[in-house]
Amino acid sequence: MKIVGGSTSSHLAKAIARELTATLVEVSFEKHQGGFPDQEQYVRLLASVTGDHVVLIQSTHPDARVVEFLLLADAIRDAGARRLTAVIPYYGYGRQDKRFLDGEAVSAKTIAKHIAVDCDELLTMTMHNPEILKTFPIRAHDVSGVPALGRYLKSADVDLLLAPDENAIRFAEEAGAITGTPSDHLEKERIDSYTVRITPKKLGVKGKSVAIVDDVISTGGTIATAAKELRSQGARRVIAACVHGLFVDNAEANLEACDDVIATDTVQSPHTKVSVAPEFAAAIRALG
Ligand code: R5P
Repeated sequence: MKIVGGSTSSHLAKAIARELTATLVEVSFEKHQGGFPDQEQYVRLLASVTGDHVVLIQSTHPDARVVEFLLLADAIRDAGARRLTAVIPYYGYGRQDKRFLDGEAVSAKTIAKHIAVDCDELLTMTMHNPEILKTFPIRAHDVSGVPALGRYLKSADVDLLLAPDENAIRFAEEAGAITGTPSDHLEKERIDSYTVRITPKKLGVKGKSVAIVDDVISTGGTIATAAKELRSQGARRVIAACVHGLFVDNAEANLEACDDVIATDTVQSPHTKVSVAPEFAAAIRALG
């Protein structure tokens, strides 16, 4: 087995290669120093993958990384790989998982169609709605990134795990099973891309240390609103924990409401504190 890492997932690709004791194939992402002035992407495999089972690891966020993923998959196939497994740690476009309004693209499925051109199977992580994977044209599995958060939170002195909305209950409960901590949830209504409203609810958090657990932190609006509610109810310490930390726009300012912010390495950021390499290594082994 050989591992190829895209430019946005190179740390994680190295870690997974170590876990599997597999060979990491070096890739060049620039033809000339500084890349193409028009921002087009470039990839070149620097070792042979002919006849190999190749695992290509690359999150599809931001957009340029989608193109890079497709170039890598095509280059790997052209080079004669026998089998190509896509590992997409953070599946960008995954949240547009249905046609909410007539005429919309179901973006998660659109991306999957293109992945399926060269890849035989797909592993991704903590999808917003894993049910969408059943509609993909290739075998696709959702791997949970929550155990990695659980490993960190276990030693973080947490009294309660809080899901900011109903979709996140399963993440808080899964983390709670690892930390041995109770969980609760809020009810959230999204007003626009930046604003959410939370239904007031008595949480019994006075003097307590609480971790808000979610799949994604994007603008940090959800976390900031939940953290404000916790503070107003007397929480002593507020931790934000997510699998996928995008941290766009005002996220850093929004997250000042928290004492600590934890994200995994599905998207590398200054808040990356835990690795999901063990989870992906186990899932790759299980593919057989
Ligand atoms: C949506 O339901 C997700 O689970 C997250 O809560 C959401 O994507 C977070 O976005 P933001 O950080 O922009 O509030």
